[in-house]
Amino acid sequence: MVFDPDSALPNVAFRDPAIFAAELEAIWHGDWVFVTTTDAVPHPGDQLPVVIGTQPVLLIRQQNGDLAAVSNLCAHRGTLLVDRPTSAKRIQCPYHAWTYDDGGRLLSVPHAPRDAVDKSAHCLPTYRVESWHGLIFVSQNLDAEPLATRFTAVEPYVAERGLDAMAHRSELQETQEWACNWKLAILNAMESYHLFRVHPETLEPVSPTKGAYYVSGSARATATGGTVKGSDDYLLISLPPGFVGVFTSGAFAWQAVHPIDVERCAIRTGAAWGAASGTRPRSRIASWLSRRVAASAYGLPDFLPEDKAICERRQRGAIGDFTPGPLVPVERVVADFGHYLNWRLHGVEPPAVHTAIDAGENR
Ligand code: FES
Ligand SMILES: [Fe+2]
Repeated sequence: MVFDPDSALPNVAFRDPAIFAAELEAIWHGDWVFVTTTDAVPHPGDQLPVVIGTQPVLLIRQQNGDLAAVSNLCAHRGTLLVDRPTSAKRIQCPYHAWTYDDGGRLLSVPHAPRDAVDKSAHCLPTYRVESWHGLIFVSQNLDAEPLATRFTAVEPYVAERGLDAMAHRSELQETQEWACNWKLAILNAMESYHLFRVHPETLEPVSPTKGAYYVSGSARATATGGTVKGSDDYLLISLPPGFVGVFTSGAFAWQAVHPIDVERCAIRTGAAWGAASGTRPRSRIASWLSRRVAASAYGLPDFLPEDKAICERRQRGAIGDFTPGPLVPVERVVADFGHYLNWRLHGVEPPAVHTAIDAGENR
């Protein structure tokens, strides 16, 4: 079903298992998916298990410093190879000890005659992996366009905000589960229309809905902004399918959404700030200190419970039928996401990059 990008999404998009299956295939298994930040795998040998869509994937910092992503399922009988962050030169299956190098090449098969297994035919499938300003994305689609192309519309604004000079703090990432379709969670994170109604005491007094504006964007990536009381404007980048990041003065806070099933998703939060020093706090006291700094960097009370409540309430309405209403100008990023869905699910070529200044839109 091709969506009307100028309207809200219909309820079927939030409850239909067939649409969810198509999204897994075309989006989560067919497009770039954010997995973590580069500081989570800083040293050669670091291995981090992640799940993309339904596929277990192992993210690896190879001996030469490159990032690699391979299937995390053994090419023998499919056992999960690595189940927690670890560091090793090789990957050895815990079942029958088939062993792979850090690029997924099968090296040894114990207790089998030399020619019993053609090793070159049983390597781990490898996936695309790229990092962009310290954000790591993986794609199972070997033809996916490079991230530099994908994120062209937002690149100049991000460069201006100095993300490369900040330190990502993967040790502070947190995950929670919401009882709503993944699209409800990411759309909510993208748009600033709801601030005045959903966050009257948390976000609205600091960054009001009426100060929100569109900067530049397309189906591939969108930048929006807004005024902040007593500080520089915020810049919000929406990178579909599942990543939203917000620059406030000197800090970058992000939310990443991942589907669990048609009516549930996982929300991960993380942040970057301060000087990129290459080291991160290991001790508990250092970690506690970092949290204090992070809290003051946002300077905000916890507004996520308010987002969770409204997204879950919206999901409860997905059981019924309604005629989708029109989007208003401050929701333009929602239209960009509609174009993203039509592009990835149905091959509809999305419109060119839209820039608010070019279009003569006023704040
Ligand atoms: S399942 Fe991995 S070695 Fe047998
Ligand atoms: Fe919100």
